Amino acid sequence: MNSPTSMGTRPPHLLDFQDWTPERLGAILDNADTMLQVLDRPVKKVPALQGLTVCNAFFENSTRTRTSFELAARRMSADVLTFAAGASSVSKGESLRDTLEVLTSYKVDAYIVRHHAAGAAHLVARYSGKPVINAGDGRRAHPTQALLDAYTIRQEYGSLEGKKIAILGDVRHSRVARSNAELLPKLGAQVVLCGPATLLPPGLAQMPGVTLTTNPKEAVRGAHAVMALRLQRERMSGGFLGSLQEYADTYQVNDTLLGEAESGAIVLHPGPMNRDLEISSDAADGPQSRILKQVENGQAIRMSVLYHLLVGRN
Ligand code: CP
Repeated sequence: MNSPTSMGTRPPHLLDFQDWTPERLGAILDNADTMLQVLDRPVKKVPALQGLTVCNAFFENSTRTRTSFELAARRMSADVLTFAAGASSVSKGESLRDTLEVLTSYKVDAYIVRHHAAGAAHLVARYSGKPVINAGDGRRAHPTQALLDAYTIRQEYGSLEGKKIAILGDVRHSRVARSNAELLPKLGAQVVLCGPATLLPPGLAQMPGVTLTTNPKEAVRGAHAVMALRLQRERMSGGFLGSLQEYADTYQVNDTLLGEAESGAIVLHPGPMNRDLEISSDAADGPQSRILKQVENGQAIRMSVLYHLLVGRN
């Protein structure tokens, strides 16, 4: 296993990829291989985080990220404090800062934070003084999702170098698209973001290794991986789409569109899916789909991130 202490200055948090070098990101992917081996054993547990307490602080709903972080921390023998805002005093008006002061009293060693507001994980990092992992903040970033996406692509091709990754859909509201656009080029891939002009912020074209197009065939042509993004109707106040049918007719990831991609290109979706809207059921469940593999890899990646941020720090 790559030791996080032997690689120079380690970023204290994983909020986005700004301070993360390709070498360090590569080490997280490499260590996920070891974590997958642990998860294949009859006893799926290692003592790496024994004695540490990890707080899973979720102020917004989640299935995959919350459960996989909880399992990842437990597999590494940490104590886990799970905080779900919906069942907490946040519903009585308690602020993020006051909530955090309560949680800090329990001597938490690291926070995993999901919040509907962009920048919330940064706030927790500033107030808590403990390592913070951003589990999705507004539309800004979702770094562990991008890491598990990168890992799933690397598992298929051995490397991200020179690979074309097409990401289609509601780019405007997607933290997954932003984190992948930040991460994948650092690992050598080119990213094409595609969607209707109303859902494709032109500023993203400034990111290194990223191009934009409204033409789905152009986006997918020659791609090694094709990712469909969820249409985030709960974040749309209207006017972005003519109709859902019109969207599906043009941008749906389905077998016809996949015919433009490299032979054997893999299909990804971060979940949750709107089946037969942004992705056809045939593509989601077909032989090229790696959607459940993404979920499986999520646990290993999150174990690797926890190890990287916490081991050797205390
Ligand atoms: N991909 C993702 O973040 O899914 P959840 O919202 O279920 O965690």
